[in-house]
Amino acid sequence: MVQLQKRDEKIKYKIRRMKLADVSAVVKVHSQSFSRQLESEEWISCNFKAYPRVRIYLAQVDEETVGYIQWIEKSGFRREVVLELEQIAVMPTWRNQGVGSSLISSSLSLIKKELVSRGSALKHVLVTTRTDNDAQKLYKETLKASVEATIPDLFSADEVIMISRDISVA
Ligand SMILES: CC(C)(COP(=O)(O)OP(=O)(O)OC[C@H]1O[C@@H](n2cnc3c(N)ncnc32)[C@H](O)[C@@H]1OP(=O)(O)O)[C@@H](O)C(=O)NCCC(=O)NCCS
Repeated sequence: MVQLQKRDEKIKYKIRRMKLADVSAVVKVHSQSFSRQLESEEWISCNFKAYPRVRIYLAQVDEETVGYIQWIEKSGFRREVVLELEQIAVMPTWRNQGVGSSLISSSLSLIKKELVSRGSALKHVLVTTRTDNDAQKLYKETLKASVEATIPDLFSADEVIMISRDISVA
């Protein structure tokens, strides 16, 4: 359990790997967070099935799923792993209270342990986002990631590619 401050109360929440029974709760967060992305249920379901290439973790308060994070292992299962933080979303009413930061740091430490148990280690974390998305700040703070390239007009606008090359600090 992790504690976070919500207004004047201390709220306990947990971060754990997604299970099949969580699909509809994660779909709800996805559909409320990404207005341009279609077919939420199909997107979440097919990604869930792709474990361990795709790993999804969620943040829960009591029984409510308030956010999720989706990591992708890139370019095969290697000894030195490059992970992509492909997607993170927190329910609008739960934002700016530390859930996103905790999702990143807690899930990453769970993944690092899984990698060690199969004889691998994390090398870099890759993450992309729109140039105008505040999530850039979150990635700088939680992952020590830096912008390495900007791609004009990729999805809906210009996109930055950020890399964390010293992931031991995160
Ligand atoms: C990006 C996103 C996941 C961040 O989640 P979040 O739970 O709001 O993240 P955090 O609360 O950890 O951090 C966000 C900000 O709140 C601040 N914060 C954290 N705890 C806080 C608290 N208790 N009180 C006030 N502010 C707080 C953080 O410092 C951070 O500030 P900054 O942007 O100035 O650095 C969320 O905004 C979201 O779902 N956005 C829509 C989907 C999206 O764009 N996803 C990213 C692209 S894939």
